Amino acid sequence: MNSLALINEFLGQPPNASAHGYQIDHILEFCHWFMGALFVGWSTFFIFVLIRFRKRRQPAADHVGVRSPISTHLEFSVVMIEAVLLLGFAIPLWAKRVNQFPPGKEALVVHVVAQQFSFNYHLAGPDGQFGRRDALLVTNSNPLGLDPNDPAGKDDIVTTGELHVPVNRPVIAELSSKDVIHDYFVPAMRIAGDAIPGSLIPIWFTPLKTGTYEVICAQLCGLGHYGMKGTLVVDTPQDYQAWLKERAELSGGAQGAAPSPAPGGPQQPQPQQSKQPAPAASPSPGG
Ligand code: CUA
Repeated sequence: MNSLALINEFLGQPPNASAHGYQIDHILEFCHWFMGALFVGWSTFFIFVLIRFRKRRQPAADHVGVRSPISTHLEFSVVMIEAVLLLGFAIPLWAKRVNQFPPGKEALVVHVVAQQFSFNYHLAGPDGQFGRRDALLVTNSNPLGLDPNDPAGKDDIVTTGELHVPVNRPVIAELSSKDVIHDYFVPAMRIAGDAIPGSLIPIWFTPLKTGTYEVICAQLCGLGHYGMKGTLVVDTPQDYQAWLKERAELSGGAQGAAPSPAPGGPQQPQPQQSKQPAPAASPSPGG
């Protein structure tokens, strides 16, 4: 625990806030110590070779070189060990940790739709059903193209920039993109996944600590990439319910009408690509 915290600080990582994160920290720490040991070992060997085969001691080059088969055996052993690590450990661990999702009822499922240069969130609302989305229905005020005629979507919640989740409950985030490849990265949760146009990529994590955490885009996705940030707020269950209620009121029940840029405005650091001046963006106190 203490040594993990130390290496985190040394590497400039924010403190871990998710259930699986300590394992990531552990493997990161192990890799750093292991690479350190390799560095010392190979450097020692390099210096030994420089001295042992210096020109003064070896005036004429040896054109035959090594005759013993030991280096062949060593190379073969390395290949075998790496094959065991990959097939015996890495792939099964990936299947267990990454591909085994918590049951859908237990988890909070959220659609994360990336675009240049913000993250949109789509929650199912009280009925637990996601409304139909259609790319043809996408407009500035309907960033996800929700179908206003689908009853399942009437209570859906759409936000941009900021997502709230309850603490101690698994979150399944289904990543997709409207334009180019982005990467949804929450450093404090030790989780990241690419958002790729035409793909739905689920990732999951369980937040353990309430607080406000930074979300960043981790793929160079265009000129505004540097500003593609968001916020993940981990709430107590009560605070989460309060946020849901507030979002539901803001969207006025029907998504088509209201998720205007106004509520999410401050979280959108980049101006959208619309050519006409957006009326909602005026800094008037009434807006
Ligand atoms: Cu999106 Cu970088």
